[in-house]
Amino acid sequence: MELMLDTANLKDIAKGITTYPVTGVTTNPSIIKAEGAVDFFDHLKKIRGIIGRERSLHVQVVSQQCDTIILEAEKIRSILGEETFIKIPVTEEGLKAIKILSKQGVNITATAVYTTLQGILAMLSGARYLAVYYNRMLNLDIDAARVIKELSSLLWANAGNCQVLAASFKNISEITTAYANGASCCTVPLELLTTGLQMPSITKAVDDFHANWQLIYGDKTILD
Ligand code: E4P
Repeated sequence: MELMLDTANLKDIAKGITTYPVTGVTTNPSIIKAEGAVDFFDHLKKIRGIIGRERSLHVQVVSQQCDTIILEAEKIRSILGEETFIKIPVTEEGLKAIKILSKQGVNITATAVYTTLQGILAMLSGARYLAVYYNRMLNLDIDAARVIKELSSLLWANAGNCQVLAASFKNISEITTAYANGASCCTVPLELLTTGLQMPSITKAVDDFHANWQLIYGDKTILD
């Protein structure tokens, strides 16, 4: 299983990789926009510098036509490294590009996946990850958990080199449900992880343990 950060915020990424078992960072044009008018490649180079080569970086193309998607993928890889995962939306033009690029050994994250059909087509076209848009699916009354379950079992049965990368999360329950339904990877905003660990009940439990220790031993610590 894997956990990725769905952000281009440098501070969040630095904190996230220090604190959590993060294996990669995913971005898209909207995520980049949230950082303001940053220099696109300069900013992504900074992210690469923070996460190192041992974590994956997923960068989305902007073009909607196969030939220019391929050119964008080539430019992204030439500047950010050949190991970079190229995020390509699963449209007809996107699938054409995924087929061509995956045959050339390019790492592809198929994105904007709302349906099992899209996921199957992207998997068969050679994608390494399927970015399934959990919260956006719920907003459309699409059963996101069912789609993830179906895709995960198909990927498992076919034993290929492709994983469900559940994405588009707005609350903690969506993340845990995605994992529980077979997603081998979730990409999440740092804020949701922080929220999950700052529950008052967790804080109270830890404070109670500390208070009880002090009742017995005062200021003496385990290290004294
Ligand atoms: C990640 O791969 C997706 O692009 C991202 O999670 C989409 O999130 P959103 O639905 O909040 O835009």
